[in-house]
Amino acid sequence: MSEVVVKSTENGPNLVIVNGKVVQAWCRCGGSTLMPFCDGSHKRNGFVAKTHEVKVRQSSLLWRIANAVAGRRMLVLTKNGLVLIV
Ligand code: FES
Repeated sequence: MSEVVVKSTENGPNLVIVNGKVVQAWCRCGGSTLMPFCDGSHKRNGFVAKTHEVKVRQSSLLWRIANAVAGRRMLVLTKNGLVLIV
C-alpha cells in the first residue's frame, strides 16, 4: 500500500505526495488560472497561510485519486460530481 500525504506549504499550495514524491500541487490561494492546480499566483497575490500536513487514510477517495495521478491514470469528473478513475 502506498502512503499519501497532503502537505500545505507555507504561503503556498497543497502538495499531494505519494510515497515521498510530489505528484501534484493544488491551489489554495484561490488565484490560480489553472484551477485546481497551482500556477504560482500565490507568490504575487499576497497569500499567507501556515504549513500543515495530513496523512490520507488508505482507500479513501483522495487516496485513490492521488494513486491514480501517481500512476498516470485518467480522472473523469462526471456531471453528478463523481470522480471516475479509468
Ligand atoms: S496556491 Fe499557488 S496559485 Fe494558488
